[in-house]
Amino acid sequence: MSLPDLGTFALVNDRLDRLSDYPFTRLAALLSGVTPRANAEPIMMSVGEPQHQPPAIIDETLRANAHLWGKYPPVGGTPEFREAVGAWLTRRYALPDGLFDAEKSVLPVSGTREALFLLALLAVPPSKVGRQPAVLMPNPFYAPYEGAALLAGAEPVFLPSTRETGFLPDLDALTPELLERTALFYLCTPANPQGAAADAAYLERAIGLARRYGFILAVDECYAEIYLDKPPVGALQVASGLVHDGKPWANILVFHSLSKRSSAAGLRSGFVAGDPELMSRFTRLRSYSNAGMPLPVLAASAALWRDEAHVEENRALYRAKFDAAEASLKGRYGYYRPDGGFFLWLEVGDGEEATRRLWAEGGIRVLPGAYLTRSNPGEANPGAPFIRIALVNDAETVAHACSTIARILG
Ligand SMILES: Cc1ncc(COP(=O)(O)O)c(C=O)c1O
Repeated sequence: MSLPDLGTFALVNDRLDRLSDYPFTRLAALLSGVTPRANAEPIMMSVGEPQHQPPAIIDETLRANAHLWGKYPPVGGTPEFREAVGAWLTRRYALPDGLFDAEKSVLPVSGTREALFLLALLAVPPSKVGRQPAVLMPNPFYAPYEGAALLAGAEPVFLPSTRETGFLPDLDALTPELLERTALFYLCTPANPQGAAADAAYLERAIGLARRYGFILAVDECYAEIYLDKPPVGALQVASGLVHDGKPWANILVFHSLSKRSSAAGLRSGFVAGDPELMSRFTRLRSYSNAGMPLPVLAASAALWRDEAHVEENRALYRAKFDAAEASLKGRYGYYRPDGGFFLWLEVGDGEEATRRLWAEGGIRVLPGAYLTRSNPGEANPGAPFIRIALVNDAETVAHACSTIARILG
């Protein structure tokens, strides 16, 4: 779908024209006019929207705090929210007691998407070393990273994240010329879609580069709580051992969400945490731009960050789904068990063609890998041979869908 021509004197920011349609808009266009032949209910595996029942804590806390709907929320949230997040980070990442100051280092965000997007406005100066700033991101990547970079006037730089590079950007391939003009590096671990988790050595190296070359390292950890056995390490965990000028969190911001951890995508709740100096500037920016997280939602979110039981139950459900998927897909399409997250990233030859066939012949909706990747000049689109499948339905549905996928794709 192309945007209508607004004539010579554009009424809008023409950087918008450089954005592709959003992946799900492209998917709708690809499948428009294709009617599933199957009689059964369609199975939606294209969107990473967990279908588990959200925890009862949400309802209970929202109701208990209903008297607060009439109040404007403060941009920094409440002390109770910040305290719950600080305690969770300290517990989850074994941070030394007292090192993380939640009062200065936590901001609530209405879903991490909006904060990841807004971050580019914080990070990208008009120029860096006299040149257009670069924003680094993995390829494949979460679409808002690219939109944010372009709209902030930076050059998005897509770093190959293939099987050969362990599905994470190869940090050794980054040249000093590129690093010097880098303003921001979006790193996603566990990665969407490949599920690869960076190890401590990788994160240590990324933090070192951010500090040496003076850029913000934004670590999107929104899948950090969906793992099979081993909790992925986090950027703050690694940074706690790398104090820089007396500042453990210098140059680092991490992003966490309740959408996946607590199956609560509709709550629109997450947080950003890290470098207190960046945080105070981000607070100023957000004072102008953001609606704030409603007080009842802050209360429900704090209660969720304090509770681990529902998260453990969630993980058990995902394990069962991977078992179910593996029964039909192991040994095909490069199937592997990811370190984290709930996606399958399958190499099927032609991802768009496979997506059309799965919808037409099986009523199964997946996402072509090419909608999550860009081609670098002179190269083929690295996502074109792939499809992404979100294991968000129950294990029985996943088992049925995966055996249907294997039957249709052969
Ligand atoms: C990699 C990644 N980051 C961030 C988000 C945003 O999640 P939310 O805005 O629901 O917190 C998503 C959601 O799908 C995602 O896949």
